[in-house]
Amino acid sequence: MSNPERLVEILSNKGVLEDSWREAVGSVRREWFLPEAMETSGRVVSRAADPEGWMVAAYGDLALVTQVNDGRGVGDRDEGEYRLPTSSSSMPSLMLEMLGLLDVRDRHRVLELGAGTGYHAAWLACRVGGERVTSVEVDPGLAERAGKNLAAAGFTPQVVCGDGDLGWANSAPYDRVVATYAVPAVPYAWVEQSVVPGGRIVAPWGGSFFPYSFVALDVVEGAGRGPVARGRFSGFPAFMRSRNGRPGRGFLADFLHHRGEEDESRTRISPRELCGDSDALFWVGLGMADAWYLLAEAEDGSGEATLWVLADDRSSWAAVEFVPGQESYVVGQYGPRRLWDEVEEAYREWGRLGRPARDRAGLSVTSGGEYVWLDSPARIVRMAP
Ligand SMILES: C[S@@+](CC[C@H](N)C(=O)[O-])C[C@H]1O[C@@H](n2cnc3c(N)ncnc32)[C@H](O)[C@@H]1O
Repeated sequence: MSNPERLVEILSNKGVLEDSWREAVGSVRREWFLPEAMETSGRVVSRAADPEGWMVAAYGDLALVTQVNDGRGVGDRDEGEYRLPTSSSSMPSLMLEMLGLLDVRDRHRVLELGAGTGYHAAWLACRVGGERVTSVEVDPGLAERAGKNLAAAGFTPQVVCGDGDLGWANSAPYDRVVATYAVPAVPYAWVEQSVVPGGRIVAPWGGSFFPYSFVALDVVEGAGRGPVARGRFSGFPAFMRSRNGRPGRGFLADFLHHRGEEDESRTRISPRELCGDSDALFWVGLGMADAWYLLAEAEDGSGEATLWVLADDRSSWAAVEFVPGQESYVVGQYGPRRLWDEVEEAYREWGRLGRPARDRAGLSVTSGGEYVWLDSPARIVRMAP
């Protein structure tokens, strides 16, 4: 059985399907929104070659990559080229988590940023009515296809091609704004286009190091300088990043030039402990908006691992060698920035704050920029970068 009822069953068994979304999940046919070839868990599934496997994937609780490198189908192979996923149909349980945070009610007017396949917009249209949903997609080919998919499935939301970071003023104000791509900062346009008070904005948020938090913001009147959106972080979502200002990605080797010329030192911070603690990663990420990390496990069962920290602009890198049982670890750093020193300083700052959990942090988005606070908006810990 591979059909919407199967997806309802999977999500119900996982305990993540609320009654308010049951009809949408059970009636929208995901297969109508998916291309002939898609990628899941590193595997390409083709409808022509494996029709059954394709349907199982379509009605699984799986993220399905539908485009790579800003325009190529996942089935188009180009040997040796780095493949950056650039559009997908998100994992249904993650969509439900996000929609739970969004708190959609009957007759709400909803703005979605990142139409992708149109499947999520179809759920929204099923829930509140197509005439109350607007979806913005930056990629013209995807926007056109999403509109066609939705029409073929009998839904009529407005799908427009544009930069979602600007929202869509023509149909504002919105009760709910939801982004299905990650942003390093919440664009103020989303706040301006929300109902005040009472609007709500949900988006995957964060810079390069840790873009894995949902932020859920309530829009309220500001003190004379326009509305303000305020809220907290949760979850562990992995979304594609906004195509605006997105840093280039590539193979590890593209970042690791000048091997053998690094400065060596030692650190007492365990890279494995850091990577296993999402609270620590979140707080370190606040200070590392333009560098990312990769923990590469040794393949020989030794439990050893290398933590790479890599600057988005590829100018600098750092490596920390984890060996089990040791109390300090060898560090190599190359380039104009000392990336591990930056991580270590941010980690120590988190320690000085008392190692707060991420749920004690909040975000305020104002006409003057956004800032992160601890416990209350009065205690600012990071201004907009
Ligand atoms: C995870 S996919 C969207 C999933 C989609 N909601 C669905 O159900 O299929 C993210 C989408 O955001 C789009 N995107 C990225 N940056 C954007 C931007 N600045 N404005 C609008 N769309 C953007 C990408 O092209 C991609 O299609």
